[in-house]
Amino acid sequence: MITEAQVLDALRTVQDPDLHQDIVRLGFVKDVQIKDGSVKFQVQLTTPACPVKDILKAQCEEAVIALAGVEKVEVEMTAQVRSRATEQEDLVPEVKQIIAIASGKGGVGKSTVSANLAVALAQSGARVGLLDADVYGPSIPLMLGCQDEHPFTRGKKIVPIERHGIRIMSIGFLLEEGQAVMWRGPMVAGTVKQLLADVDWGDLDYLLVDLPPGTGDAPMSLAQLVPLTGVVIVSTPQTVAGNIAGKAAKLFTRMNTPLMGVIENMASFIAPDTGKEYRLFSGMPGSQLAAELKVPFLGSIPLDPEVGLAGDRGLPSVLSAPDSAQAKAFMAISKDLAAQASVLALARRESESQTPTFSPA
Ligand SMILES: Nc1ncnc2c1ncn2[C@@H]1O[C@H](COP(=O)(O)OP(=O)(O)OP(=O)(O)O)[C@@H](O)[C@H]1O
Ligand SMILES: [Mg+2]
Repeated sequence: MITEAQVLDALRTVQDPDLHQDIVRLGFVKDVQIKDGSVKFQVQLTTPACPVKDILKAQCEEAVIALAGVEKVEVEMTAQVRSRATEQEDLVPEVKQIIAIASGKGGVGKSTVSANLAVALAQSGARVGLLDADVYGPSIPLMLGCQDEHPFTRGKKIVPIERHGIRIMSIGFLLEEGQAVMWRGPMVAGTVKQLLADVDWGDLDYLLVDLPPGTGDAPMSLAQLVPLTGVVIVSTPQTVAGNIAGKAAKLFTRMNTPLMGVIENMASFIAPDTGKEYRLFSGMPGSQLAAELKVPFLGSIPLDPEVGLAGDRGLPSVLSAPDSAQAKAFMAISKDLAAQASVLALARRESESQTPTFSPA
């Protein structure tokens, strides 16, 4: 007779490679059912975009089938994104993870990266929102082909626009075309707050926030308004871009916003005729910037005119050219980013559970 304890013991040999703990201790194993020689259970991962989902499934099957008397193993892989777990009052309690996309310099590809990562995460089965917080130059509506949309309100909340499986809100929807606004600090803070609290985001696994460049009012307000999962730095390997990216990253750290990693963009060009890769700049590579900041290097996206054209057509590369090198890079990065969000959620949970309670002497 096989027991649940035996099954769990066998599964303790399976480690989550990102979280560095076994899947039983992590609480991933659910609903173990044993009937004669057949064992069935669920493995609930921390993200549907888990980069090692298939490997973990195979390891679970192997571990359990090795038990004496087990003839059949059925593993159902599910996912529940962990929450930013915050005790303070939260403007968007139904949003589990909030990931900001920032840069030092402008024009390095934040919006392109945000749009592609949002769609990539949604494609893996996650519920995803994309907030365009670039009050100075909102570009998400155009990149996702919804620049002519006008969101309506339901009750007191603005309903985000749905495109390509994600919920989108941008200050661009709320301004008249061509309308110029003289943004001052408190106005920016107020607008960012509105884009969070007054929008009917609903239940989301990931809300990506596309920021304007640098560390001005919008990024700083965002970091103060809600507990962020963390911030991702996009950079190009030009000396100036790398230097400013480093400074921006340090400022986020000072605001207690975790750095989730560095994404390098437009570093190389792959010649379509020969497949040969050319590095285009001689500045600090993204991997080196990541190493200096002691954060993960999430990956590099090649320069491809198709990326820009795709953005202009309102269809991100992951949809318009899913087999391209850049689409594959976006897909891989989205999975690593999701894994990184799980790592941070776990670290926070552990540090909270280790917080000593105050006991007067
Ligand atoms: N990998 C790439 N290959 C080719 N073109 C790209 C790539 N990434 C971005 N671009 C193009 O570079 C330009 C700038 O990109 P994007 O608007 O995403 O940058 P940004 O950092 O959001 O800029 P801003 O600081 O103004 O918000 C756009 O025209 C975009 O289409
Ligand atoms: Mg932008």
